Amino acid sequence: MARKKIALIGGGQIGGVLAQLCALRELGDVVLFDIVEGLPQGKTLDIAEAAPVDGFDVQIKGTNKYEDIAGADVVIVTAGLPRKPGMSRDDLISVNSKIMTTVAEGIKQYAPNAFVIVISNPLDAMVTLCQRITGFPTNRVVGQAGVLDSARFAAFIAWELGVSVKDVSAVTLGGHGDDMVPLVRYTSVCGIPVMELLERKYGSAEKAAEVMAAMVKRTRGAGGEVVALLKTGSAFYSPASSAIAMAESFLKDSKRVLPTCAFLNGEFGVDGLYVGVPVVIGAGGAEKVLELKLNAEEQAMMDKSVKAVKELVATLK
Ligand code: APR
Repeated sequence: MARKKIALIGGGQIGGVLAQLCALRELGDVVLFDIVEGLPQGKTLDIAEAAPVDGFDVQIKGTNKYEDIAGADVVIVTAGLPRKPGMSRDDLISVNSKIMTTVAEGIKQYAPNAFVIVISNPLDAMVTLCQRITGFPTNRVVGQAGVLDSARFAAFIAWELGVSVKDVSAVTLGGHGDDMVPLVRYTSVCGIPVMELLERKYGSAEKAAEVMAAMVKRTRGAGGEVVALLKTGSAFYSPASSAIAMAESFLKDSKRVLPTCAFLNGEFGVDGLYVGVPVVIGAGGAEKVLELKLNAEEQAMMDKSVKAVKELVATLK
């Protein structure tokens, strides 16, 4: 069986980590594309020279030519500007829309059968644009946001409770913005509802609610927290890991259930919009949206987030 091929569009901070993770996990041959001459070639040469040490056996190539992504099974897009301190993701829409337009045209021409995972921000709008321009079926164009937002939420809970991150199951819904919806009621540690554990720790429901509210707030602002510390760019290790989880589930047909920015056709009461929801990812791409029951408070938060996504997408030219 021929090796799988993964094309990475954008050879910046996230692109470089993606390339290294693909190689370390031997997901397939890697092509790293960027418009800056020398950048993808230099990064891939650097990674490839670590192969004898790390023991991975894949081809890894840097390029400035779209032809080289031909035949890619998966394309992950990180082309575009990252945030600077004080910026929201939405502030990037004008410049990143232009970049996404050329990128999507390149993918459409050279990798027409690929499963596309978009990371570029503002995420919900960039996925929408990518799907519109490629014209690919919506199950083959998704966005990475929810895996990371949920991972951040899970990490904060694990640190707070002093338990392994492996045993926390957390999920966030909605857009990849400040209105995202961390679902506390569906969050558990080894099946135990997280609020039960917090109440036991603090001996009061009020204090537990206060601690949880702080973690929800931190989750919503977690990207900005990293931007404020880095000052010159945004998070790159964790977005790369998150997209790799999605790519791997597709390539291995694992059918993992991952919070994914997926196109909704009536699920969650949303029609014709990309929004973050739990999705089965397998060889068929975004194979199925798994719905869950929201209470009135959760539904109100979801509605607010969906409204924000709608408004953002409406600004696309
Ligand atoms: N085609 C391909 N690559 C491009 C294009 C283009 N038209 N325009 C810019 N790029 C490249 C840049 O040359 C740069 O190498 O995109 C890369 C972006 O890398 P970084 O600036 O390091 O940004 P990164 O941290 O990787 O984030 C990329 O993901 O999370 C989002 O908000 C983030 O939108 C940003 C994107």
